[in-house]
Amino acid sequence: MPTERKLRIGLAGIGTVGGGVWANLARNADLLQRRCGATLEVVRVLARRADRARELGIPEAILTADPERLTADPAVDVVVELIGGTTDADRLIRASLAAGKHVVTANKALLAKHGRELFALASQYRRQLLFEASVAGGIPLIKALREGLVANRIESIYGIINGTCNYILSLMNDRGLGYAEALADAKAKGYAEADESLDVEGHDAAHKAAVITALAYGFWVPEGELPTEGIAGVRRPDIIYARQLGYELKLLAVIKADPDDSVEVRVQPTLVPKSHVLASVGGVFNAVMVRGDVVGDTLYYGRGAGAHPTASAVISDLAELACLGSEGIYRLPVGCGTCAHRLKPIEDIISRYYLRLAVVDQPGVLARVATILAAHRIGISSVIQPESHEGDTVPLVVMLHDAQERAVRAAIAEIAQQDVVRAQPVTYRVEDFET
Ligand code: NDP
Ligand code: HSE
Repeated sequence: MPTERKLRIGLAGIGTVGGGVWANLARNADLLQRRCGATLEVVRVLARRADRARELGIPEAILTADPERLTADPAVDVVVELIGGTTDADRLIRASLAAGKHVVTANKALLAKHGRELFALASQYRRQLLFEASVAGGIPLIKALREGLVANRIESIYGIINGTCNYILSLMNDRGLGYAEALADAKAKGYAEADESLDVEGHDAAHKAAVITALAYGFWVPEGELPTEGIAGVRRPDIIYARQLGYELKLLAVIKADPDDSVEVRVQPTLVPKSHVLASVGGVFNAVMVRGDVVGDTLYYGRGAGAHPTASAVISDLAELACLGSEGIYRLPVGCGTCAHRLKPIEDIISRYYLRLAVVDQPGVLARVATILAAHRIGISSVIQPESHEGDTVPLVVMLHDAQERAVRAAIAEIAQQDVVRAQPVTYRVEDFET
């Protein structure tokens, strides 16, 4: 009789995702055993809170509060890092790889910050560093990019890749909830990061965009250089005016290669035409559209956050290790710079824009705004002046033709200084998803 094959797992962190991994490994243990031809067994759990471990039914005998009990234990084949953050998690992953263990992580913040070194380290020790759960929750996007689309040059990637923000915008749009109430609901459901500002200020989506960029284009966007704006400043009137104009406001990640090998990478609230499939992605769902030069457009959709969808992705990495045996397959380190691509400066990016001004209600205002825009060679494609007053001002919503960011910034700065303009102008990009 053949000896039983086993993948021995050291699980670090039993919060939202760690709890989901523990529960679902147990729930589908037989199925996984049959599919992988190996048992996926958690042999050690790193946890800080004994009460949480008891709640999950984790036996005391495998619990530890000491990371070394995972990294130095020869009985652990793979360390699953689900503690989050960029300090302890970084130490844990480096120590695990150095000790000859494979690593599975969901930690996009850490990969965006130290991915280049961590993948180089994994390569040096010839261990796997797998990260399916780091982008788009339960959607198998990393495997799609790494394996399914390997024959393609990636032309563009458009993604709704933060579940919390999409959930908040959906509750604000469709149920009329206030921002704070919607955020509290997202936190209660386990969608938000431990530090929720990472979600609402756009950083989490930017971390994920950096991971996707490294996979698709072979370079890591330097920390702090990825243009990022979140939804914390989004106001309901802009959602309503966008709808009147035929758009939905979404936190969108855009990753697009130019023929000169520069790559536009950004995360911003963006007006998406209602006719586009991404406009209808609501709640905690994520969706990513990838265009390859061989395959054309492909679309990936599913739950982008939460215990179970994320556990599904983590377990898929564990199953890969279990199926492939101890050495697995050799892969080039992610973002190893084999391509000539580089980040496109934000000032050079060309896009359409939505502009909302709070102006005094008097004749000639639109003409003054139009004159300034024209002086910067920016055309207007449509204008709406909703019939609502805020004190002595009225809103003026202007849709701009394609323009370079540099020109738009200069024009907006000039418009903001006009005496008839009474508040800081609000601008959002408009995405056309050109073919
Ligand atoms: P949680 O905050 O729910 O869980 C983290 C757990 O790790 C907590 O139980 C925490 O303990 C524990 N922990 C933190 N530091 C240490 C340490 N040094 N030693 C031992 N335990 C530690 O976070 P999530 O489960 O939501 O997220 C985990 C990771 O997964 C993050 O990297 C996150 O970005 C990522 N992720 C999360 C998703 C989600 O939907 N939530 C989806 C995709 C990825 P304590 O309770 O004591 O603080
Ligand atoms: N906080 C993240 C989100 C978790 O809401 O998308 C999934 O990465």
